[in-house]
Amino acid sequence: MNQPLSDALAFFGATGDLAYKKIFPALHAMARRGNLNFPVIGVAKSGWDLEKLRVRARDSVRTHGGGVDEKAFAVLVRHLSYVDGDYKDSTTYSKLRNALCNARNPLHYLAIPPALFPVVVEGLAKSQSARDARLIVEKPFGRDLISAQKLNSVIHTVFAEDDVYRIDHYLGKEPVQNLLLFRFANTFLEPIWNRNYIDNIQITMAESFGVQGRGLFYEEAGAIRDVLQNHLLQVVGFLAMEPPLTTYHESIRDEQVKVFRAIRPLNAEDLVRGQFTGYRSETGVSPSSMVETFAAVRLQIDSWRWDGVPFFIRAGKCLPATTTEVLVTLKRPPLRKIDANNYFRFRLSPEVIIAVGSQIKKPGEQWLSQSTELKMLHDPELGELDAYERLLSDAMVGDGTLFAREDAVEAAWEVVQPILGNVAPVHPYEPGTWGPEEAGRLTRGIGGWHAPQK
Ligand code: BG6
Repeated sequence: MNQPLSDALAFFGATGDLAYKKIFPALHAMARRGNLNFPVIGVAKSGWDLEKLRVRARDSVRTHGGGVDEKAFAVLVRHLSYVDGDYKDSTTYSKLRNALCNARNPLHYLAIPPALFPVVVEGLAKSQSARDARLIVEKPFGRDLISAQKLNSVIHTVFAEDDVYRIDHYLGKEPVQNLLLFRFANTFLEPIWNRNYIDNIQITMAESFGVQGRGLFYEEAGAIRDVLQNHLLQVVGFLAMEPPLTTYHESIRDEQVKVFRAIRPLNAEDLVRGQFTGYRSETGVSPSSMVETFAAVRLQIDSWRWDGVPFFIRAGKCLPATTTEVLVTLKRPPLRKIDANNYFRFRLSPEVIIAVGSQIKKPGEQWLSQSTELKMLHDPELGELDAYERLLSDAMVGDGTLFAREDAVEAAWEVVQPILGNVAPVHPYEPGTWGPEEAGRLTRGIGGWHAPQK
């Protein structure tokens, strides 16, 4: 891999929510590390000027970036400019071209709704701003297989696949990357990481909050499109992939897509949907909405390694905690008297924990066992990069490893395609509970769902 560095960043949607919550904090963090030394151009159609954008940037960093470091913020402000204009208007792109100055390899970031991708991609091409450029696109990437394929073909009219960086911010998270490293860098793990020793795998992504004013967006998405098709399948990919080769840079993404292709497409039998009580009164939500705010699925990977090992995933809003956790349960040893509970527990957020559930002798005369956890806690202060800082920096240097490749996005849509829409009833659940009771049907054979501690 010998890619040129991008020498400017233009981000569309500069006055929007994503820029506010993620992009400004990431740029500020890059400046703090001394890595922001290129022009940054915000583009939006809001009637704003640069001063207003600066105020917004400061507020964003204060609220979502852990506080303003004045020195770093001054660097960000020095590099920041703003283009206000309609995405359909060619003068917007001429202004952008000017703001890009002499940049030869700009990086364009589309933090805008996918419906606007075609017009911006075309505008970039016509203004010669796409030449030798890279493109970052935000999720959601399409809303089903067909729309994802259409988006890909629109983008490819101008940008080659190698220059397209599809964000799935879960790939940018340290603890998610750690799943891969922990598996393959520890000799004790790999020999047992298969159907012979693993009984089942559960992934829970719980959020204690609701849709937080994003009702309009969520009505178009629902839990399956919002987090299952992307974030949680990426986690499955890292848990299930074969060892990537270290000899060429696409090998992680090749192994990732192989996992997605081996997942049996889901069907209504494998799915339980839920909706929290009160969702229908959220702004932007239809009073008769059938959109799921909770989804639980059981999936199978048809591969040599995973044959017969069920993977269970549940994700939902308004659950009792905000945490993402993976539980890998091992098969029990053939000791009748021992109530074995052997597992690996990976807490991906809010804290980063790897725990090994084991049995030890219960003190006393009898040969009884008791459960204990060997726990490793990761200190987030140790130089951890926020996912967006990591991904933006990677795209600037042309490293696509932690971005979703076209074939992976499409393969992931193929997995969930049969369960999109109202293929299964949507059961109501009360906020603060673990979703509808019906979800228990999926995990009956393994003794129920694992509930991560708060
Ligand atoms: C986003 C979803 O992609 O991920 C949100 O649209 C969700 O609905 C969020 O809350 C979760 O991300 P994180 O990093 O907070 O786990």
